[in-house]
Amino acid sequence: MAKRSKVPAQRSPAAPKAPKVGAGELATLFDYVRYAVSRFNAASLVFAHGTTDPVAEAAFLVCETLHLHPDQFETFATARVTATEGKRILDLIERRIATRKPAAYLVNKVYMRGLPFYVDERTIVPRSFIGELLDSHFGADEDGASLIGDPAGVESVLDLCTGSGCLAILASRNFPNAEVDAVDISRDALAVAARNVADHGLEDRLTLHRGDLFQPLGDRRYDLIISNPPYVDAEGMASLPRECRAEPKLAFDGGADGLDIVRRILDEAKRHLTAQGGLLCELGRGRDNLEAAYPNLPLLWLDTEDSEGEVFWIAAADL
Ligand SMILES: C[S@@+](CC[C@H](N)C(=O)[O-])C[C@H]1O[C@@H](n2cnc3c(N)ncnc32)[C@H](O)[C@@H]1O
Repeated sequence: MAKRSKVPAQRSPAAPKAPKVGAGELATLFDYVRYAVSRFNAASLVFAHGTTDPVAEAAFLVCETLHLHPDQFETFATARVTATEGKRILDLIERRIATRKPAAYLVNKVYMRGLPFYVDERTIVPRSFIGELLDSHFGADEDGASLIGDPAGVESVLDLCTGSGCLAILASRNFPNAEVDAVDISRDALAVAARNVADHGLEDRLTLHRGDLFQPLGDRRYDLIISNPPYVDAEGMASLPRECRAEPKLAFDGGADGLDIVRRILDEAKRHLTAQGGLLCELGRGRDNLEAAYPNLPLLWLDTEDSEGEVFWIAAADL
């Protein structure tokens, strides 16, 4: 499968005028998806925000308009859409093209690992590979071996750079007995995270903290630290596609080589991990630079369905 880029390079923003769609020309959910894909292709949109191709993006927008979970698309694909619903779908398709905003911002929702999260422009649209890795490498999949022993025995988890809170919330599901702390420096992002924590009913065991990385946590230690920090390098920042420029710059900017925050996390993690704990951290395309900077660290690179070597695991004992 082709590797997808979390922050794809900018493409030419040609947006042809919306054609007139006559009454009854489009009938089923499939028809609207096909039409949306044609419009998206003609406009050279970029897909990197919860969906990674025009078909999935179109199906997501159609389902959201019709109040269907994306998993229900196939069930109703050949069902007819009413005139009012059809008008709303066409309007959304044109707004996606005209604004170039991620679809998730237009409908204030994104799904991760099948769970819905509220999202708006105060925070980046969640798309971290860590969501998949929590299931595949920490025992939630049927045959998933855990990198950290028995998931039920994990008592404390820290999500650094939490944004919308999505990874902290997913971790709460994977580690049902854990107290979860989540930190972000952005007051705006934390307001979105607070809404998601409440929506998922986790106020009693997921605590949000505002501050710079480990600073608000004192000397607290965790069985697991997860982080999807800002890691886009200066070159990547200069060529962000319009869709990504709708998101907070603070969520991307990792300094000249993209590793400013990752280095700080690596340097400080040991002081905040229990003896059996470990750090799971995403860093995009910075693997070569990180390995050159830390030649003696036995980093374990984990792949996902759509990524190779963009997330590492390191046990506390090896830090
Ligand atoms: C790539 S986003 C990840 C958000 C979320 N974890 C996700 O996967 O969707 C990075 C987040 O780090 C936050 N951030 C940036 N610098 C930070 C710092 N020094 N300390 C804490 N959070 C920071 C940003 O506000 C942003 O929400």
